[in-house]
Amino acid sequence: MLMNKKILICVTGGIAVYKAVALVSKLAQAGMDVKVVMTKSAMEFVTPLTFQAMSRNDVYFDTFDEKDSRVIAHIDLADCADRVIVAPATANVIGKVANGISDDMVTTILLATTAEIWFAPAMNVNMYNNKAVIRNISRLRTDGHRFIEPSEGFLACGYVGKGRLEEPEKIVEFVHAHFTPKNLPLAGKKVVITAGPTRERIDPVRYVSNFSSGKMGYAMAAAAANLGADTVLISGPVGISKPHGVKVIDVESAAEMYEAVNAEYDDAAIVIKSAAVADYRPAVIQPQKIKKSTDDAIIELARTTDILHSLGERKKQQILVGFAAETQNVLDHGKSKLVKKNLDYMIVNDVTDPEGGFGNETNVVTLLSKKGLHKPYPAMTKNELATILLQAIIEAEGFGDCNDC
Ligand code: PMT
Repeated sequence: MLMNKKILICVTGGIAVYKAVALVSKLAQAGMDVKVVMTKSAMEFVTPLTFQAMSRNDVYFDTFDEKDSRVIAHIDLADCADRVIVAPATANVIGKVANGISDDMVTTILLATTAEIWFAPAMNVNMYNNKAVIRNISRLRTDGHRFIEPSEGFLACGYVGKGRLEEPEKIVEFVHAHFTPKNLPLAGKKVVITAGPTRERIDPVRYVSNFSSGKMGYAMAAAAANLGADTVLISGPVGISKPHGVKVIDVESAAEMYEAVNAEYDDAAIVIKSAAVADYRPAVIQPQKIKKSTDDAIIELARTTDILHSLGERKKQQILVGFAAETQNVLDHGKSKLVKKNLDYMIVNDVTDPEGGFGNETNVVTLLSKKGLHKPYPAMTKNELATILLQAIIEAEGFGDCNDC
């Protein structure tokens, strides 16, 4: 949703400037075209070079420094932005904009833009509660500007109270929610997705696991969120970035995944089990590191609970989707799991396929349904595939038309 959206971050001078660096980095990682404008005071805390590196764009701070002779910089920046965020927004910049003052690059742009402006204030609690600041905030709200409320907590000045710049992750979520169209086919539906491997501990330093990277499940979660779902991703230990707009619950073992999935199950519309859950765990977890000896070792394994099977047994409104990781008789085994686990859909993949399976960026799958759907897909990236698979399920279930998705 954020891909290529143009956002202008106006950074004004407060200690929370360091958090604006993380914000710019996260927005750029989400695919946004981020430009940064700074006040002179902001540059006392962090240099423009830092924001340049994070945004991969020129940083502006001087109204008279025209980098491109074909345009007037402050007007061009004001016109190009889909949204403007002032973060951190000091009492000073709030006061200036509320009173129509434009005496530097930031305030000139804020007066010139027709894009929606969001102020994310950060200041000492007594400043935040000062009558003049309250009056200025109220005036800006009346003028149609929006505020990302500061949070409460320990302030850099030593006070405890309201005045901390909202966490960058929260601001990104806010931006994401804002750009997510509301008429998407999964809007209002909860989709629970599992991803990655599980780790079954042998002792404090060893475990049994598998090669799942989590890429397929994370792609499913990102696609579900992009299609408007309230998405919950239950993730085994993986090394990839969390998708935006998704609630992520980290787990380690099959038992923890079972507990987390059960807690999210009752009100779920769709559950997609992309995780490669260990079928076996060491029967006993040794409390101390097992010492090596000259003899071979035997570890007794016990069965883990088949999470998907147990969900299938108590299925109500939920649409259950499994993934079958097979190495031979792929379709037969996939079909048999679809029936045995009482699923609605099974996505079958041959994990020996060089273009699919564990760790690869691409996958090759066939979508089967209990109603007889049998749809093979050619090799494509896991991201592309995730959207296509969800769209096929949405259309088959009559959740909406995906022509505009
Ligand atoms: O993570 P990547 O590197 O991107 O790789 C993607 C993938 C190959 C892991 C993925 O595409 C995939 O196939 N996931 C399912 C792996 C698997 O466990 O398959 P299975 O055939 O053993 O299990 C069938 C289904 O039962 C799965 O949905 C699985 O989540 C579920 N299951 C299995 C065992 C268990 N104890 N509980 C379960 O819920």
